[in-house]
Amino acid sequence: MRIACIGGGPAGLYFAISMKLRDPGHEIEVFERNAPGVTFGWGVVFSDQTVENITRNDPVSARTITDELAHWDDIDVHIRGETITSGGHGFIGIGRKRLLEILQDRARELGVTLTFEAECDPADPKWRDYDLVIASDGLNSRFRGATPEAFGVDIDVRKNKFVWLGINKAFEAFTFAFEETEHGWIWAHAYRFAPDFSTFIVECSDEVWRAIGFDEMSQEESIAKCEQLFAKYLDGHALQSNAAHLRGSAAWLNFPRVKCERWSSGNVILLGDAAHTAHFSIGSGTKLALEDAIKLAEVLNRDGLSLEAAMDEYVAERNLEVLKLQNSARNSTEWFETLERYLHFEPLQFAYSLLTRSQRISHENLRLRDREWLEGVERWFWKRATDGKSNKTAPPMFAPLKLREMTVENRITVSPMAMYSAVDGVPNDFHFVHLGERALGGAGLVFTEMTCVSPEGRISPGCTGLWNDEQIAAWKRIVEFVHANSKAKLCLQLGHSGAKGSTKLGWEGNDLPLDDGNWPVMSASDLAWSPVNQVPRAMTRADMDEVRDQFVAATRMAIDCGFDMVELHAAHGYLLSSFITPLQNRRSDDYGGSLENRLRYPLEVFAAMRAAWPTDRPMSVRISATDWAGEDGVTPDEAVEIGEAFAREGADLIDVSAGQTWAEQQPVYGRMFQTPFSDRIRNEGRLATMAVGNIYEPDHANSILAAGRADLVALARPHLVDPMWTLRAAAQLDYRDIHIPPQYLNGMSQLARNLKREAEMAAALRV
Ligand SMILES: Cc1cc2nc3c(=O)[nH]c(=O)nc-3n(C[C@H](O)[C@H](O)[C@H](O)COP(=O)(O)OP(=O)(O)OC[C@H]3O[C@@H](n4cnc5c(N)ncnc54)[C@H](O)[C@@H]3O)c2cc1C
Ligand SMILES: Cc1cc2nc3c(=O)[nH]c(=O)nc-3n(C[C@H](O)[C@H](O)[C@H](O)COP(=O)(O)O)c2cc1C
Repeated sequence: MRIACIGGGPAGLYFAISMKLRDPGHEIEVFERNAPGVTFGWGVVFSDQTVENITRNDPVSARTITDELAHWDDIDVHIRGETITSGGHGFIGIGRKRLLEILQDRARELGVTLTFEAECDPADPKWRDYDLVIASDGLNSRFRGATPEAFGVDIDVRKNKFVWLGINKAFEAFTFAFEETEHGWIWAHAYRFAPDFSTFIVECSDEVWRAIGFDEMSQEESIAKCEQLFAKYLDGHALQSNAAHLRGSAAWLNFPRVKCERWSSGNVILLGDAAHTAHFSIGSGTKLALEDAIKLAEVLNRDGLSLEAAMDEYVAERNLEVLKLQNSARNSTEWFETLERYLHFEPLQFAYSLLTRSQRISHENLRLRDREWLEGVERWFWKRATDGKSNKTAPPMFAPLKLREMTVENRITVSPMAMYSAVDGVPNDFHFVHLGERALGGAGLVFTEMTCVSPEGRISPGCTGLWNDEQIAAWKRIVEFVHANSKAKLCLQLGHSGAKGSTKLGWEGNDLPLDDGNWPVMSASDLAWSPVNQVPRAMTRADMDEVRDQFVAATRMAIDCGFDMVELHAAHGYLLSSFITPLQNRRSDDYGGSLENRLRYPLEVFAAMRAAWPTDRPMSVRISATDWAGEDGVTPDEAVEIGEAFAREGADLIDVSAGQTWAEQQPVYGRMFQTPFSDRIRNEGRLATMAVGNIYEPDHANSILAAGRADLVALARPHLVDPMWTLRAAAQLDYRDIHIPPQYLNGMSQLARNLKREAEMAAALRV
């Protein structure tokens, strides 16, 4: 094949090498606009995995690269005069210039034609003469930009400003240095890539950048200012730029996240940064470029594979890798963009939060990297959780939490789950066994399912309720069993179904109206949940009074039942949620329109319940922190205001769920997918929160808690398959101080030994 590679960066050069290795008969030309030896940027970091991949592909260039790699283990986080050092991270780096020299030499050796100082124009007809034109022309690709629609280009220009500088000093550790100026915070990411040279990237928010005056400075002035701001880390060495072509403030960039739906059009194929980018804070762009190159060369040379099939395989495999990395990169980018949120943390927790920001590194990963450091974090967590009384070194999930006068033994919660098994709202033996078993399973807090305040407020005929003496007696039996046989605290979730009421049992079909015997429903507005559901009555003020009083009456009955805590269900599109979300609330009175108005009634109900509930017992509220409807619905920003509003009325905990507030929601699922909302509400609103949603491993729980992303962690579905989830986690993590029902004590220690061994093996495999 006759192939032109546009751009002699890592992608273009390595693709040319990989093609020649597979078939020396290919005719390959690389065109680079810069002169040899001229490049932007400084060093790049790699992972061991990348080194393995390039060694398999071309042992010759890999050997030269690995001979020159700088290695280091520690990460130093400098903040507020403290340095937090954690080890075991195993980085390797190389200068970008040196990497390119090695690749250029190897390409020449294999017969690739390299043409420098050649600016390529996509409109030039000569490209039609090539079988393939590889657009390896970087993130600002002209070849992609010539026909963006052909590639389905999506570019998201991120908020922060950064400048990529170098310094003639060896940082012994990967260094994050956070400095507070009179205008706000600015920080540096610094890492060594040669014996005496390091990359030094300076980053800050756009506001701070302008306030410092970088927008008005020449490049030299900018560098001098950075030298002054970071003087204590530089040991008198100068910061240097190799972006001489960029004038004034242009040396500062906003990172563009590039994504493409299609990676080829006509004879042009995108490769490396031209096809996708991953934020520099997770240091994976060069790795992706090299791995793209290997895969593309491999499919193009596979016998019997058509060009079309080769492209399909290339894009399918590489796109999956890119999406995974871009997901981690987004978490990392957002962490730096929302840094303010974490600045109130003590330095140790701040460093933990920084290290786990992309969610690729977890609590147990950190233990394997640096056990001593991680144990220091655990001791710190326990000390804080116990007002300095405990010196324990143990996983955060087992630390107690005090809410008002209630102390939960540990941070694991059984999330509310409707069982659709009650008759006339009365919980029965099913609920007794179901809740009793989960309480025996070791969770610190067990929630009841949404228990309805009136017959009409039920979702289905099978929902539990609390409006009469028979129900009080049945709940009391459950509460007494739980208190007598476990350390778990029991929280009653109270709710009203609103427009989602009068529907079938969960397993008969979601949100479908009953075949017969439907009862009238009401909601904030007369909007049906879906075309098949009945149109609800828009609540009148009289309805509001009646329902508020029903909530209060149920709250009083909860005292008789002996519950430790009560939660108001104001999420998932049910009655109170229908007031909060603009998608269901179309009212033009004092209860519709602005967020303040939409919150008025739910807050009134909450305040009335709070007044009826003992002051020494806590209350929580469950909210949907987003409607998954962009700006048309509740946004995560508003969720902070919602949490704060309930907290002002006496909520001790915000139970942060999301969505289910309109039938056409577009949620973005994934591991721990709702935790970022909890993080935001907790750290922007400074409120206690509970995270929920696809959290299923003890490692998830510990990472969330230690990073200060929530105060409690709730699991629903994992508790359906394993009521003993918490006891099992204690056995796995070898935590002995958890309450084990005496009936179960025999046999637990052998199980603990087996599970611990299993967990250690699994953790070792994950790294
Ligand atoms: C601040 C910062 C830090 C980074 N740190 C890391 C890191 O630690 N680890 C890591 O793996 N990645 C890192 N990256 C990302 C990494 O630099 C890129 O992902 C990687 O260089 C992509 O390789 P590429 O060959 O696709 O593109 P590039 O390296 O950008 O190469 C494209 C080449 O094409 C040339 N070119 C462009 N247009 C034309 C044209 N019209 N005609 C001729 N030539 C053209 C350019 O001059 C350039 O040489 C970082 C990026 C930034 C911005
Ligand atoms: C069977 C079932 C019933 C549920 N019922 C309720 C409920 O009554 N009240 C509520 O707030 N959430 C309810 N949920 C939502 C869960 O509490 C939880 O938020 C959700 O399942 C996500 O957590 P998970 O990924 O751990 O399952 C229910 C979930 C399930 C699976």
